[in-house]
Amino acid sequence: MKIEFRQVTKEFAVRDSDRPFRALDGIDLGVREGEFLTLVGPSGCGKSTLLDLLTGLTAPTSGEIRIDGVPVEGPGLDRGIVFQQYALFPWRTALGNVEFGLEAKAVPRKERSALARRHLDLVGLGGFGDRYPHELSGGMRQRVAIARSLAFDPDVLLMDEPFAALDAQTRESLQEELLRIWEKTGKTIVFITHGIDEAVYLGQRVAVMSSRPGRVRQVIDVSFDSREGDLRADPRFGEYRHAIWTLLREEVASVA
Ligand SMILES: Nc1ncnc2c1ncn2[C@@H]1O[C@H](COP(=O)(O)OP(=O)(O)OP(=O)(O)O)[C@@H](O)[C@H]1O
Ligand SMILES: [Mg+2]
Repeated sequence: MKIEFRQVTKEFAVRDSDRPFRALDGIDLGVREGEFLTLVGPSGCGKSTLLDLLTGLTAPTSGEIRIDGVPVEGPGLDRGIVFQQYALFPWRTALGNVEFGLEAKAVPRKERSALARRHLDLVGLGGFGDRYPHELSGGMRQRVAIARSLAFDPDVLLMDEPFAALDAQTRESLQEELLRIWEKTGKTIVFITHGIDEAVYLGQRVAVMSSRPGRVRQVIDVSFDSREGDLRADPRFGEYRHAIWTLLREEVASVA
């Protein structure tokens, strides 16, 4: 396993209360090397909390997270992160933003620029390197953020609802692009979404979470005979979609 959660629990202190709030409870989850895993669940079930633990920005209350068998003890260059809102530096061009991570890795200047250009090409933004974020559309900014994470060449790409703020067309084209990049680079990707379609379309496996406390309810294997053509029109797509929808609906019903 590339990534392993073992009995991971995360609690937060609650103001004016001695009892902490348990956001994640006994999470056991493995992500295989090179796998595209999507994680879906209702708002507030702990998806971002789980991803934060994986980045190493926060530590679990109990349990352990391992990457390549090594416990996560803080942020590392092996992991790249893409958030819902493009976190670009407004004073840097698209190219400058992609180069940023490479500076942190002390890649020589010339190589940096070539690498950054190659990754802008990869996300379909060749020719836009000189634009500043305010001169780009939302979808283009998100592409820059993805290019920046990829240029960094992390083993693992962690994505927290990266396409949520985009319109349907842009989202679909970025989903396709991300799949293409994943196939090409073989990176391990953990992708959070609350969109069932998005989870089924992108994931080789879909982990379905439940809330209060956040748990992994079921992990569903998604496989299609062929990825050619309109996957969403495949009857299997509808079956997976329905299975996840049912799990999530039971979930909402049990909370209400
Ligand atoms: N720093 C924090 N302090 C206290 N409670 C927190 C903190 N971060 C998250 N929580 C709580 O933990 C729970 C899970 O939050 P989290 O952001 O992980 O949910 P989520 O599944 O990502 O939701 P969404 O789909 O809305 O993004 C929520 O109830 C939230 O209020
Ligand atoms: Mg979240």
